[in-house]
Amino acid sequence: MAHTFILDCFDCLPIWDPTLSAPAFPFFYIGGSVEIPNLTYTDDLMDPMSHTFILQAEALQNYFAEIYGSSAIGNYYLKSVIAAFSDGKSGARAYYWSTFWAPKDIVLPIKNLSSVYQKQIISKRIPAIANNTAKTYPLEEDFDIITMELFESDSMDYDIILKSATDLFWFCLPAAFDLYAKPGNNRTLTLLNPKKSFYQWRLRVPSDYVVRLVVVTSYDVVPGSCASHRLSAYDFLLPLQNKIITRWCGMTGAWKPPVIRLTSSSNVMLVTFSLDQRQKSNILKAYFQAVPKIVCGGWYVSWNGSVISPYYPSYYPPNIDCHWVIRAPLPGYRLMVKIIVIQIQEQSPGSKKCDKDWLAIDGVRYCKAIAEENRVKEYGYSISISFHSDELVTHRGFYIEFRAFSHTDRCNTVQLNCSNAKCKHHSQSCKEDNSCKNESQEGEEDSCSYKRCLPHSYKCLNGKCPIKLNPECDGIRDCADGFDEMNCACGRSQIKKFRIVGGEDARPGKWPWQASLQLGTSGHICGASVISNRWLVSAAHCFQDSESVRYSIASSWTAYMGIKVINKYSNNQAVMRSIKRIIVHPNYDQYVSDYDIALLEMEAPVFFTELVQPICLLSSPRVFNYGTVCYVTGWGAVKENSQLTKILQEAKVKIINQNVCSKLYDYLITSQMLCAGNLNGGIDACQGDSGGPLACLGKGNRWYLTGIVSWGEGCARRNRPGVYTKVTAFYEWIRQYIN
Ligand code: ARG
Repeated sequence: MAHTFILDCFDCLPIWDPTLSAPAFPFFYIGGSVEIPNLTYTDDLMDPMSHTFILQAEALQNYFAEIYGSSAIGNYYLKSVIAAFSDGKSGARAYYWSTFWAPKDIVLPIKNLSSVYQKQIISKRIPAIANNTAKTYPLEEDFDIITMELFESDSMDYDIILKSATDLFWFCLPAAFDLYAKPGNNRTLTLLNPKKSFYQWRLRVPSDYVVRLVVVTSYDVVPGSCASHRLSAYDFLLPLQNKIITRWCGMTGAWKPPVIRLTSSSNVMLVTFSLDQRQKSNILKAYFQAVPKIVCGGWYVSWNGSVISPYYPSYYPPNIDCHWVIRAPLPGYRLMVKIIVIQIQEQSPGSKKCDKDWLAIDGVRYCKAIAEENRVKEYGYSISISFHSDELVTHRGFYIEFRAFSHTDRCNTVQLNCSNAKCKHHSQSCKEDNSCKNESQEGEEDSCSYKRCLPHSYKCLNGKCPIKLNPECDGIRDCADGFDEMNCACGRSQIKKFRIVGGEDARPGKWPWQASLQLGTSGHICGASVISNRWLVSAAHCFQDSESVRYSIASSWTAYMGIKVINKYSNNQAVMRSIKRIIVHPNYDQYVSDYDIALLEMEAPVFFTELVQPICLLSSPRVFNYGTVCYVTGWGAVKENSQLTKILQEAKVKIINQNVCSKLYDYLITSQMLCAGNLNGGIDACQGDSGGPLACLGKGNRWYLTGIVSWGEGCARRNRPGVYTKVTAFYEWIRQYIN
């Protein structure tokens, strides 16, 4: 029985010659991957045109043919194609598909048998070619092979490859881009005026990393028009129907923010784009990066906190299971849990419980959107939380918050328990209710001036917590040891008389805590604030190594203080100090910019002058609110995508309500962040201001360091305020180093 095939497009796709009679049987494809130990993954193996790739692929293809050809299903086997390689755990991983054709009724038995033969392939020896000499390498026992069905009910992507192969030769191959990102490296994917009907990007990262794809712009989503345009991401290097992470269809114009971030479960991802007509527009702008594979779950004892799905707010990876146990710190306390965000794959139609992906709290599974009133639930002393995702389709995930409370503790965490069974806000005392004896003697401690210490309370040197909300530096001794009135020489501009986006030039000496952090010949990189004669505080993200620059090395940095104009240090009042030590907050998370704070120790102390002064730190977490006068200062860009300024700029910004900001930023705002700016846009910090101060005028007419410039979407955009590190949340952390 002889059939004629035209093998087109680098011999990879069997095309039935239309002049011959149509095949009586359907084709079907089975794809998979196999790891070849001891075959080192090199750049050559990424390029399908390279000599190494071709030799290696041929050897494997022949080997597959031999096994299948001599097998019981040999009559139905056409060929196998090695489509790509990636970095494997102990070698290189090869991705292939095998083509079969058979009468309909025996397709299923063949599929089943095929996986038996695949196992046979791997249990024998797999050939690998190195330096042009054929070699075979033994395969390890626990060798893992993934076999899946390719393009079966989901055959559109493959159909396009087949269809396009009958067009002009140049058009026949889908445009394929093979990319590799090293850690710390962003590789871009763009599609401008597409001329072909099918594009694919095979994304790879080193083997112990996962791929994060960030889609910055794309066409609009119009559900239901998948046939004309679609963008798909797969958790594999081939478009396997059961490996789709997500898919967007339709096209009616430009996509708007927010950006979408997807994560793979291993070190590869395939992105495909298909369209039925040429398009004259910028269709896709995305980049990908290598993200360390995280271990999710854990055991926590805490008063409050949050639990998020892996890589949240990025889409969680397929195929993952996590388990957390949370316990209240003291017996008698219970946990209150609030589900803030839940966006996960819903159950299959007709199924009663979440059977695909789920979040389970104490055994109860959640996978659908939850009505506002059902989001908060009370649990016992400890809870178990688990998360499961299957192989297919992922979403943003979940974000939940928990808090320990006690029923005997009638007052909530920001309230005082007064002995007259009333709850009072911390800023008030119980005194007015005559609930405590007020007649303390001179030198005796007034029991009414202190309250039960909470995690964020201001603590005197003797460990007691004054009732007053911000006891420090107000000229009144609230601590018996007087600690609250020590270290008060801060936050005052010493100048007697008196830009950023939408800002203006600052007068010399008006912001004497402002420092410029400079790196060798690169000059100004970030801002910082002077908080003592030896210490500066800045943003953690300023000290993350990139591929070409080691930003984490303390000795390469110099801090300039007492300056107004960059590179004009002729006035001998400019103070320059080398940096001795950089302490990046241990919880800093570069992917969500959480805990974006770092302390810098200077090589030698600075002397305070009218141009160099420390800014005050505030111990209480919640003090400034909407309406407080705050200024952000820095030498950053005066508009998006522009250059640094020479003259220090200042801009007056408003503190924005945390919930409002959280909604504007799609719940990316953690409790270590605060937002400030102007919701109408026009006033903001920008690139180069990072690490610099957001100073708010507080008690005693002093300036307090409220925020550290951290991030924002663009600069000064409407409804995209600046996001700052909430310095008040780090008072204890800072104090442990600088005192
Ligand atoms: N990350 C930026 C920097 O490194 C600061 C961005 C602040 N952006 C904003 N829109 N407030 O300089």
